[in-house]
Amino acid sequence: MKISAVKGMNDILPEQIGTQRPISAWQRLENACRVRFDLYGYREVRTPVVEETRLFARSIGESTDIVGKEMYTFSDRKGKKLLSLRPEGTAGVVRAFVQHSVHTRDPITKWWYGGPMYRYERVQAGRYRQFHQIGAEAIGVAEPAMDAELLVMLDRLLRDDLRISPLKLLVNSLGDRADRTAYVDLLKSYLKKHLDSLCEDCRRRYEQNPLRALDCKVPDCQPVLDEAPQIGESLSEPARRHFEKVLALLGEMDIELEVRPRLVRGLDYYNRTCFEFVAGGLGAHDTVCAGGRYDDLVGSLGGPRLPAIGFAMGVERLVMLLPEDPNLEPEGPRVFFVYVGEESLETCFRLMEEMRESGVSAEMDFRGGSVKSQMRRADKKGARFAIVIGETEIATRRVSLKELWREKARDEETISFDLLVDSVKKRLLMNG
Ligand code: HAM
Repeated sequence: MKISAVKGMNDILPEQIGTQRPISAWQRLENACRVRFDLYGYREVRTPVVEETRLFARSIGESTDIVGKEMYTFSDRKGKKLLSLRPEGTAGVVRAFVQHSVHTRDPITKWWYGGPMYRYERVQAGRYRQFHQIGAEAIGVAEPAMDAELLVMLDRLLRDDLRISPLKLLVNSLGDRADRTAYVDLLKSYLKKHLDSLCEDCRRRYEQNPLRALDCKVPDCQPVLDEAPQIGESLSEPARRHFEKVLALLGEMDIELEVRPRLVRGLDYYNRTCFEFVAGGLGAHDTVCAGGRYDDLVGSLGGPRLPAIGFAMGVERLVMLLPEDPNLEPEGPRVFFVYVGEESLETCFRLMEEMRESGVSAEMDFRGGSVKSQMRRADKKGARFAIVIGETEIATRRVSLKELWREKARDEETISFDLLVDSVKKRLLMNG
């Protein structure tokens, strides 16, 4: 019986993770994040993949698609609690922050996290049911400089460190709760007049979550939505000043951006600044990073009334866009040992271990076979050097180092067993 992975949940095989040395695309992304986040004072936190369902309902919002349609929910063995696989990271991180009273030790908390998230969505390129996010949350600062710092950090990470191109930063302000309520009323009365010209989804959103209609991609809806009242016009004075200051600070840092009055997010906890980084070349699902402020969430989850802002990046989407690093080399062992006969297997085994102990990757194929077939395997593996050991080599305690990468191997010198590791290391240092 063959059992496959669940639809939309993918194995990430080594060749997808990347076939380059010293690190793969996934690791390159993770390392770049670690280094960047460290520069800005973020520390790593790991929270469980499973949380109580009500945590997500309360934070992301009952009427959102995520909570209403997309969560993997089940009761625990005793049937007492409803649990869900996390569809995103913010809710769990804030729960942990509140549960451990972190604010009593640290008035400003900056945490980052990464890992798999789960949403039962329609599976398409760039959209999966298990996907990975790397995100961060900064809790405790209401000032616009916090928003600006976070966006500068992301811009540097995505543009300078990861070289994602083309890339656009879209920003908007959703105002505060009261601004939003006033705006939703305004939007609803406008949409009501045009319901006949809107798609079925928009008509449903009109009832349940009118802001989401602004996000509709159906071409026929666009003329109505283009003319809709804009949230910017409903912002209170403090919210408007906040947004202006964020834009001014980003302008001073020469961060390119576009204000998108129709940008809203699919999660209810946002207020004030919200944003998305959109990349070219991904088709429909081209948002590689998204986030915003959520000043009421910590308080509504039973914590102190602390403002916060955060974001999450879609790892699968970014990995697809990472340009190849020309300095990286193909993956594969540095040295491949080829043996002829039982006695030489033991010698190879010992020398191979010596190589590895000194930091040089080495492999051999214990199944043996002809020298020709072992050499073919060395090639296929992408090895840099091959070393053949047979009776003569054992008798003289000398071997020759065969270059497999370069067109014309230089004269093959023979090297004594004792100097082999050092010679290989020297050759690797001299010409890469
Ligand atoms: P989100 O916009 O739902 O925000 O997701 C953030 C990113 O995760 C998206 O921009 C996308 O790159 C990736 N993503 C989402 N769903 C999928 C999927 N089905 N398949 C592949 N990638 C996906 C959040 O999750 C918020 N927690 C972000 C945040 C943190 N806001 C404040 N703090």
